[in-house]
Amino acid sequence: KRHLLEAADLDRDDATLVLDTAAQIESALAGREVKKLPTLRGRTVVNLFYEDSTRTRISFELAAKRLSADVINFSAKGSSVSKGESLKDTALTLEAMGSDAIVVRHSASGAPHRLAQWVAGSVVNAGDGTHEHPTQALLDAYTIRQRLGRLDGVRVVIVGDVLHSRVARSNVWLLATLGAEVTLVAPPTLLPVGVGSWPVQVSYDLDAVLPKADVVMMLRVQGERMNASFFPSAREYSRRYGLDGRRMAALADDAIVMHPGPMNRGMEIAAEVADSARSTIVDQVGNGVSVRMAVLYLLLGGASASE
Ligand code: CP
Repeated sequence: KRHLLEAADLDRDDATLVLDTAAQIESALAGREVKKLPTLRGRTVVNLFYEDSTRTRISFELAAKRLSADVINFSAKGSSVSKGESLKDTALTLEAMGSDAIVVRHSASGAPHRLAQWVAGSVVNAGDGTHEHPTQALLDAYTIRQRLGRLDGVRVVIVGDVLHSRVARSNVWLLATLGAEVTLVAPPTLLPVGVGSWPVQVSYDLDAVLPKADVVMMLRVQGERMNASFFPSAREYSRRYGLDGRRMAALADDAIVMHPGPMNRGMEIAAEVADSARSTIVDQVGNGVSVRMAVLYLLLGGASASE
């Protein structure tokens, strides 16, 4: 494959190859003082970000640098985008300067797909609108497999603002492909209309589903994508859909708690849960670098990962 545009495009073999490659890269680098492989030397990766990001942008930058690629960080703010330059002209300009891969985040769902039609190099979706965030789902799957030893048959409960969540969409498709059983828990107003055709169960009762969960993935309430009438009161939301210490106590002994970040501490997740031994939030961020290295390595066709 030349691009990574959505998790829904990945079959079981594709997804497993990314996870296994990330694990191989992690062991190749373990114990090394200089955490670098020469595999993408001479290649150029552009991070093209039209929306803010901390984790995804920095981890793609680190991933490319650890594979010895040259990295250009392009932020729409402060660029000629403010003079009206289009996504297409921006991408063609970057490609004319020698980019081999464009990692794009954009507020418009489908922007990476358009980009893939215009450029000759690889395109990686780093989050498009409310549509998909495939590398987040891959690093989440990697983290689940690392902590629980498997994905097949794992019961994953995804809780919160599913309507606006590209993370939820990518996870639903990828986890179903990898054999996990997904249950969504959300207020009816924060579920998409088409959820009936997704490979998931739906519940409105968080307390009822928690004791059977292996994984609880909390979603950020995306206030910036809602108008005021949609935005639930923080206290009411937290009471019905927040994960606090009392609810965490209902989980099975080895169940884990995930969150893609950034978190609204005290709203969808209590600080005592986010900072608990069950939380994989910090591991998810660390795994993001290995998984994004694997994606760049596989798309740009480097040599052996064990070099
Ligand atoms: N999880 C995630 O995409 O975080 P950022 O918005 O900080 O990249």
